[in-house]
Amino acid sequence: MQKIGEYTGYQPDVNPSIANVFATSAFRFGHSLISPWIRRLDADLNEHPRYGHLLLHQAFFNPYKLVNEGGVDPVLRGLMFTATKDRRIENAKQIHKNLIQRLFEASDEIALDLAALNIQRARDHGLAFYVEWRELCDLPKFNTWEDMEKAISPPNVRKLKEVYKSINLVELYPALLLEKTLPGTRTGETLQCLLIKQFKALRDGDRFWYQNPGEFSPGQLKEIESAKLSDIFCSDSDNLELVADNVFRLDSERVSCQNKPGLNLRKWALDCSTQI
Ligand code: HEM
Repeated sequence: MQKIGEYTGYQPDVNPSIANVFATSAFRFGHSLISPWIRRLDADLNEHPRYGHLLLHQAFFNPYKLVNEGGVDPVLRGLMFTATKDRRIENAKQIHKNLIQRLFEASDEIALDLAALNIQRARDHGLAFYVEWRELCDLPKFNTWEDMEKAISPPNVRKLKEVYKSINLVELYPALLLEKTLPGTRTGETLQCLLIKQFKALRDGDRFWYQNPGEFSPGQLKEIESAKLSDIFCSDSDNLELVADNVFRLDSERVSCQNKPGLNLRKWALDCSTQI
């Protein structure tokens, strides 16, 4: 967020469309964050005594696992109160094997391979190679496999070398997943650059961006900016009592939904009455 910078208003010359590289490779880094488990916790934050945790590959195309087994609250608790896969750890950068060997196993005759789909999709779309995207990002040029070790650990560079004849042929997606994560982030340098470019364009090129003056009154804006995802969990879940105030942090303060007043929609009601 710091690198995206302060918002300075709508820029009509910025194209907010989703870039090919973002959809076909960069944002798919999310596939390396997926845990093989959907954790389900009861109100005391223990594994749900009746239904337990759910294996991700058994949940694909199986919505009744949600409908009949305690609803969405146990899943929300699992998301808030257990750690996500930490791709800063060298051997946790990969996509979990269940997504490579068992994707949609429950519905398809032959299971799919998410990593292969991602690589193949980039080929379908004719995406440029890793070294070329680095150039677009003004990152140092790599001429040798040793150069690449600045961004990717030596054992992983060795693996790439076994597969690709030249560094110029290394494909973007596997390289993005293997890049060393930058301090304080879950992304490597090229991936971070591509994500920043897209999110900045989405914001600056959007005429209806919520901060664009005139979209919302100052009171409404204040209300929107003070709302947290945990407020939405409280107002929209079945019966959640406890949430993490910052749902993105495992060490967040835990708060009762009773102490969360939710969005004050009166700011909008007033607007309606004045318009009428
Ligand atoms: C259980 C979780 C997930 C599953 C099973 C899943 C599966 C898939 C599949 C099968 C595709 C289509 C692949 C292809 O044929 O090219 C896809 C596309 C994609 N996924 Fe995921 N995904 C998951 C989570 C995520 C997450 C967490 C992110 C990012 C944070 C993400 C980002 C994307 C993007 C950007 C696309 C391309 C969408 C498009 O261009 O229309 N996915 N995913």
